[in-house]
Amino acid sequence: MDFERKPEYGPLYFELNTGAKMPSVGLGTWKAPVGAVGEAVVAAVKGGYRHIDCARVYDNEKEIGSALKQLFSNGVVKRDEIWITSKLWCSDHSPQDVSKALSKTLEDLQLDYIDLYLIHWPFRTKPGTRGFEPESMLPLCLPETWSAMEGLYASGQARAIGVSNFSTKKLQEMLAFAKVPPAVNQVECHPGWQQPGLHNFCQSTGIHLSAYSPLGSPGSWVKGQTLKEPTLIEIAKKLKKTPAQVALRWGLQSGHGVLPKSTNEYRIQENLDLFDWCIPQDLFSKFSEIPQTRLLRGEFAVHETCSPYKSLEELWDGEI
Ligand code: A2P
Repeated sequence: MDFERKPEYGPLYFELNTGAKMPSVGLGTWKAPVGAVGEAVVAAVKGGYRHIDCARVYDNEKEIGSALKQLFSNGVVKRDEIWITSKLWCSDHSPQDVSKALSKTLEDLQLDYIDLYLIHWPFRTKPGTRGFEPESMLPLCLPETWSAMEGLYASGQARAIGVSNFSTKKLQEMLAFAKVPPAVNQVECHPGWQQPGLHNFCQSTGIHLSAYSPLGSPGSWVKGQTLKEPTLIEIAKKLKKTPAQVALRWGLQSGHGVLPKSTNEYRIQENLDLFDWCIPQDLFSKFSEIPQTRLLRGEFAVHETCSPYKSLEELWDGEI
């Protein structure tokens, strides 16, 4: 697609507090299975995507790495023309494990640096574990974990660092000890969970709010209904766009990077077709009528006795 055709319908990228320009639409890879994710990445990059959102825990970084290698060696894109994000899993929060975890991700992705590295959740679990069973939970050590992340930033292995799933209060606490402020907070955000309070706080502190599940995650176990919202459908009809495109365009116009996941070539393209139109103000204001529900609530990691958070209220600091 011709990105430069109508630049007034951007944003094509968001400038982070590091000065880097992060492409505003990234391909999400959560739930993109091995056997399909590589082809999806190739289709996306050939179709114009310049941002791929990954994580160690998605168990598909190796296949993404092979796809990237193929794209680089075929001259489709150069390393410095594409933005790759990955995330530190909860079992690697001990400061001595942070650098090892990024090295493993870089090895799998076949890269020598990552554009953005995020702490995936404000949870810490025992090394080598994957889930959040009560016996796996450990107390947090976020100042130490963040200091190790700052080391990766200083070394240039991570060109920007940030967090994911952090509430306003947790960001405030972090800003009190961070020498390098987080560049990004990647959170659930879509028309059915708009997060205006967090959005305002991020804006006022120069932290970019990136939206995962920007379509309301219709395909995951949470079975989000955002794309079936009557208000969204009505706006989509008026604009002759799909509900998915309207949800994504709402994210961009709200100032969020959006990370729609798809392994379907047609929908991958549909989800990037966002830059030669916009939602006019009278329709944009209707989004405030959409009922709000957090879909990915994190109850799997909230245990009365052994989690740092004993309730969902504590995990999200009331933003629930
Ligand atoms: P698929 O991979 O088959 O395209 P989210 O990014 O909010 O978590 O949503 C991802 C889910 O939405 C996946 O199940 C994906 O399925 C589906 N999806 C992606 N793009 C679209 C689209 N344009 N229209 C409808 N569903 C979509």
